[in-house]
Amino acid sequence: MNHTRSRINWNEPEIDRRVRALLARMTLAEKIGQMVYKDGAKDRAEALIRAGSVGILANVHGADEVNRVQAIAVQESRLGIPLLTGNDVIQGYRTIFPIPLAQASSWNCELIERHATIAATEAIAAGTRWTCTPMVDVARDPRWGRIAEGAGEDTWLNCAVGRAQVRGFQAAEAATGRRFLSCVKHFAAYGACEAGRDYDTVDISENTLRNVYLPPFRACVDEGIETVMASFNEILGRPAAANHFLLTQILREEWGFAGLIVTDYNAVYELMTHGIAGSPGAAACAAIAAGVDVDMNADIFLGNLEKLVTSGRVAAAPIEGSAYRMLYLKFWLGLFDDPYTPAGREAEVLLCGAHREAARALARQSMVLLRNEGGLLPLPSTGRIAVVGPLADDGDAPLGWWRCRGRAEETVTVLEGIRQACGAANVLHAAGCALTEGGREGFADAVAAAQAADVVVLVLGESARMSGEAHSRADLGLPGRQEELLRAVHATGKPLVVVLINGRPLATPWLAENVSALLEAWQPGTEGGHAVADLLFGRCSPSGKLVVTIPRAAGQVPVYYNRKTTGRPAVDTGAWQYLDMPPRPFYPEPDTTRHLDLPATPQFPFGFGLSYTWFEYRDLQLSAAAIPSDGRVEVSATVRNAGERPGDEVAQLYVQDVVGSITRPVKELRGFRRISLRPGEEGRVEFSLGRAELGFFDARNEFVVEPGLFRVWIGGDSIGGLEGTFVVEGGAVSCGCGP
Ligand code: GLC
Repeated sequence: MNHTRSRINWNEPEIDRRVRALLARMTLAEKIGQMVYKDGAKDRAEALIRAGSVGILANVHGADEVNRVQAIAVQESRLGIPLLTGNDVIQGYRTIFPIPLAQASSWNCELIERHATIAATEAIAAGTRWTCTPMVDVARDPRWGRIAEGAGEDTWLNCAVGRAQVRGFQAAEAATGRRFLSCVKHFAAYGACEAGRDYDTVDISENTLRNVYLPPFRACVDEGIETVMASFNEILGRPAAANHFLLTQILREEWGFAGLIVTDYNAVYELMTHGIAGSPGAAACAAIAAGVDVDMNADIFLGNLEKLVTSGRVAAAPIEGSAYRMLYLKFWLGLFDDPYTPAGREAEVLLCGAHREAARALARQSMVLLRNEGGLLPLPSTGRIAVVGPLADDGDAPLGWWRCRGRAEETVTVLEGIRQACGAANVLHAAGCALTEGGREGFADAVAAAQAADVVVLVLGESARMSGEAHSRADLGLPGRQEELLRAVHATGKPLVVVLINGRPLATPWLAENVSALLEAWQPGTEGGHAVADLLFGRCSPSGKLVVTIPRAAGQVPVYYNRKTTGRPAVDTGAWQYLDMPPRPFYPEPDTTRHLDLPATPQFPFGFGLSYTWFEYRDLQLSAAAIPSDGRVEVSATVRNAGERPGDEVAQLYVQDVVGSITRPVKELRGFRRISLRPGEEGRVEFSLGRAELGFFDARNEFVVEPGLFRVWIGGDSIGGLEGTFVVEGGAVSCGCGP
């Protein structure tokens, strides 16, 4: 990776001088103007821009259009302050990469970083200089539509993926000569909304907030992120946009974040709907008091702040500080010296071959092979293939919710990818049914195609609008008549491969237990069809691993790997063998289920994914049997490709703090390594564990490494692996009854 990247320095004297000189010339209204985000797709904001009342303009696309509105700011407003132009460049600008949930399933931070640089390169060419991503909301509930946008259920992985995106956006300067800002969101714990209902109440303890949901934001702040977006939801009883504890005490005072804090869309207005503010003026006061710099399109700052400051209800200092930070960013970006976007770059970079190839490479590594009974895959490229299902030739679903300027007609569909891989003459196609509405009238064609073929590829899943913002689902099954179609095609007895195109884990037990081969392709982006074909025909082996647990039913949710043991574990965690724990006659057998009508285990566990080869782990080594609480222990193992095909393995390292002053998870991911191995080849994977990996926030919300026994695993998923133990030396663990 090209690691020359631009990390902002908030103490550059020359920028500071220029900002202060400009502030001295600005009116209160103009300073407030820098705290205003306007949606250029909704309101023609020209008059406000001319008045110097817009700091960020969003959803304007293309060098020509951006230059047009920028010229109004620079040439027609009193002080000529340029606009910061922003967009949701979440998974690419015009070349659409796999959704973030898929990207994370590659566990390949280099490719994720590269995606971000490409996304920024295309965005800059089209006049965008700020993106509202990475989204690092830990999500344990697949009913939540926005699980598609993050790195899944694990805190550690969200940290790693968030950092990689920040680095990638920062590297845009080396790639384009222009700097680019990113924005970590949604601060905080948005993914913990009740029942997966978007925007709904988040009611978790501060301890859970600190141990599970905050670390990925801290990681992005430490990586140098320039802006943070406060979330819609309440947390600890106050909406994030009015939450001083979150935005000021934690983000600024504890973490030292010096950048810009923006709200989510209309969130300042929604302080009234939340019942935190009784009027627009009160909402403005609450947001300013919490530490908000920019009001995203609610017009509450625009309509109320000036009179609040002149009446003395709001001090001038916060306004000065917010305007300073916005202007600092604009000077740092170079917008005052070079506010316009050169024409002609879009045609060169948008959807260019190299970008498509990068999207295809990441899509290949993001797909997870969940079943391959009898080694059905990879398929021979000869013989007749029936490609059926409502998503077989659908170019829209693979782009997902946040497709920015991606176009469905530019997507390589699964059908197209397979046709190009093995010749159109060998491929039969029938949709079989619609995605949601409609009857069985198309089944006969699909069955006939299956009967006329040697093998069937059935493409099922969700539309792009069945996940994403405000698109949660209570039912995690296949929508419409897809399962009926599946059973009808399965009944032909032909070898059957199912490819899922979806934005969340789906609970499809019949499919998971009856189909020979199952490839989870997620929403794979513009190049998805090529990537699917690359894997189906063995151009490379699947290497993706699940970053979200796949449940057996919605009723099993929440179900996630790093759960607490509880006093009556439904699945034996093995910890008892390390404890001085006398057997108890009434201790339930380990395999008691949590629900009478479901096994306690999920359909597929976190970290799981198959390859066309298989890997052996051996020779786990620890550098010490005991370490001091501020010490480190090195853990390594050998991984061997024991099969006949080359493949990539994602070796994962988990730890368990067996006895703590508060209950600790049965295991937690604390490291991973992708390793490429030819048949018979082996390699060592090495990890180092210290305070960051072994510590946690205790009952007093202090970060501690407690003495005692730790278990450690290295393996290919979250349920197996080579196990070892070591001890952190020191006194006995506090009994938790206070100091
Ligand atoms: C939306 C989303 C947020 C996005 C913002 C700007 O409501 O919650 O993720 O970045 O508004 O489009």
